[in-house]
Amino acid sequence: MTAADLVRRWDDQQAAYIAEREQRFAVMTDVLRHVVGDESATVLDLACGPGSLAARVLDAIPNVRIVAVDYDPVLLELATDYLAPYGDRVRIVDADLTSGWREVVAEEGFAGAVSTTALHWLWPADLVRLFGEVTEVLRPGGVFLDGDHFRFDGRAPRIARWAADHDRRTQEEAFAAGAQTWDRWWGSLSERPGHAARVAERERRFAGRDATPSTAVDFRLAALSQAGFAEVGTVWQLYDDYVTYAVRG
Ligand SMILES: C[S@@+](CC[C@H](N)C(=O)[O-])C[C@H]1O[C@@H](n2cnc3c(N)ncnc32)[C@H](O)[C@@H]1O
Repeated sequence: MTAADLVRRWDDQQAAYIAEREQRFAVMTDVLRHVVGDESATVLDLACGPGSLAARVLDAIPNVRIVAVDYDPVLLELATDYLAPYGDRVRIVDADLTSGWREVVAEEGFAGAVSTTALHWLWPADLVRLFGEVTEVLRPGGVFLDGDHFRFDGRAPRIARWAADHDRRTQEEAFAAGAQTWDRWWGSLSERPGHAARVAERERRFAGRDATPSTAVDFRLAALSQAGFAEVGTVWQLYDDYVTYAVRG
C-alpha cells in the first residue's frame, strides 16, 4: 500500500474520533492564510503525525513552507514518504516536544505554528513550557493554532454527556461506513520495510510516559496568555472539540 493510501486511511480513522475534522483543518488553514498574506512564510506543524494537516496547508497556501515535527519514528517515516512530492517546501524534524525540540528545529521567525489532536499527550506543565517556547519562535504577529478535544470537566456534566454521546455516534457511523479503528490502522503498517525496528524505537522513546490528565479549554487559554501571547481565544468549537488561536504581540 502506498503512503498516500495509508494516510487516506489514517484520515478516515481519525475522522471517526474527531467529528468534522476537515472543518477543523479548513478553519486553521483559513486563519493561517490571513496571517501569512502573499509573502513567503514558514509554518511549524507540531506533532505532525503522518502529515495530514501539513498537506492541507501546503495545498491551500502555495507560498508556505512547513517544518513538521514529531517524535514517533513510525509516523515520521510515513510522513517523509507521504510529503516527499512537496520537495523542499517540507522539512521533517525528529524531536520531542517535551525537551530540546527548539535546538533540533534550529529555525525561528515562523509565521504560524499549528497542531492537531496531539498536545493532549503532554502533561499540563509541559504544555505551559511548550507554549512559551512557541511564542519565542513565532515572528511578531505570528499565530499558534491548536485543534484538539479539550474535555469538559465536573463543572459541565450535561454537555460532557452530550459530547460523549456525539463522539459515540460519530464513531459508529464512521466504522459502519468502513473506517478502520485506531488499532487496525496501526496493524496495516506492518508490511512497510523496517517497520519492526521503528516500532521498537518508538516503544523505547515513549516508555514510562503515563497517560496525561485532560484539560478544559479555559486552562488552555489561561496557559497561552500566561506564556505571553497577546491575543488568545477560540476560532471554532464543536462540543469539546476546539481550535484555539494565540497571536504573538
Ligand atoms: C493522534 S496523532 C495526530 C497526528 C496529526 N497531527 C494529525 O492530526 O493527523 C498524535 C501525534 O502526537 C505525536 N506526539 C505525541 N507526543 C509527542 C512528543 N512528546 N513530541 C512530538 N510528538 C509527539 C505522536 O507521535 C503523534 O504523531
